Amino acid sequence: MNDFAGLRALVTGGASGIGRATADLLAARGARVAVLDLDPSAVDKPLLGLRADVTDDTSVRTAVQDAAEALGGLDILVNNAGIGAQGTVEDNDDAEWRHVFDVNVLGMVRTARACLPYLRRTAAARPGTAAIVNTCSIAATAGLPQRALYSATKGAVYSLTLAMAADHVREGIRVNCVTPGTADTPWIGRLLDAAGDPAAERAALEARQPTGRLVSAAEVAGAIAYLASPLSAATTGTALAVDGGMQGLRLRPAADR
Ligand SMILES: NC(=O)c1ccc[n+]([C@@H]2O[C@H](COP(=O)([O-])OP(=O)(O)OC[C@H]3O[C@@H](n4cnc5c(N)ncnc54)[C@H](O)[C@@H]3O)[C@@H](O)[C@H]2O)c1
Repeated sequence: MNDFAGLRALVTGGASGIGRATADLLAARGARVAVLDLDPSAVDKPLLGLRADVTDDTSVRTAVQDAAEALGGLDILVNNAGIGAQGTVEDNDDAEWRHVFDVNVLGMVRTARACLPYLRRTAAARPGTAAIVNTCSIAATAGLPQRALYSATKGAVYSLTLAMAADHVREGIRVNCVTPGTADTPWIGRLLDAAGDPAAERAALEARQPTGRLVSAAEVAGAIAYLASPLSAATTGTALAVDGGMQGLRLRPAADR
C-alpha cells in the first residue's frame, strides 16, 4: 500500500513506542517522515530525527520549521508525545498537574499551532490530504483507578480534537484521535518494572481488555495511519478506539460464555 506517497508527516514522540511504530508505518507506506522527540538519538534513516521539547514553544517552532524545510512542506501531524501520571487527586501536587498538562495538552496545542500554516498550504494545493491525528487514550472515556491527572489530560485531548476538527474543517484540515487501551510500549514496560509483582500487574492489565492481551504499538499505528490517510478524507472529529474492546464490550466471566 502506497497511500502516503508524496506526503510529508511529522510525528511527535516518534522515537519510541506508538510514535515510532507510526513513523515507521507512514514511511513504509510512502511518506517522508520527521520525528520530533526529546531524545531522537535512536531515530535513523529514512526518518528524520529532530530534538525538541513540546513544553517549549521556541523549540517546537524551530523543529517544525526544520521539518518543513527538510521535507519540502508538511501534510500530516501526528500529535503523540505524552507522559503518564499515577494516583488519585490527592497524590499529585500542583507542579505535577501543570507539567503533565503542559506536555500532554499544551504540547499538542504548540505543535498544531506551528504546523497549521503548512497544513493550510497543503489543504489549498492538494485537497483531502491535510490531517492531524492526536493520540488520546481510553482514559478519556472510561474511569480508570489511580489515573486522575493522566485521565484529565486525555479528556482534554478528546475535547480539543473535536473543537479543532470544527475550527479547521472548512479549511480542508481533518482532525481525529485514537483512544488506545493499554499498549505494549516501553512506557508500559517501565510501569511493569516498577510494580511489586510485574507478572501479576501485566496479567491484570491483559485481563482488563476483552481480547485478553495488550494492544500492540503497531495496531495503534495502523489506526493512526488510517485517520491520517487521504483514503479517510471524509472522516473528521472522530475518536477511533484501539482498545481490545475495553470501552464498548461487557463480557460475562469466561465460564458463562
Ligand atoms: N502505552 C499505552 O498503554 C498508551 C495507551 C493510551 C495512550 N497512550 C498514549 O500514547 C502516546 C505514546 O505513548 P507510548 O506508550 O508510545 O510512550 P513512550 O514512552 O514509549 O514514548 C513516548 C515518546 O514521547 C517522547 N516525549 C515525552 N515527553 C516529551 C516532550 N516533552 N517533548 C517531546 N517528546 C516527548 C518520549 O521521549 C518518547 O520517545 C502518549 O501520548 C500516551 O499518552 C499510550
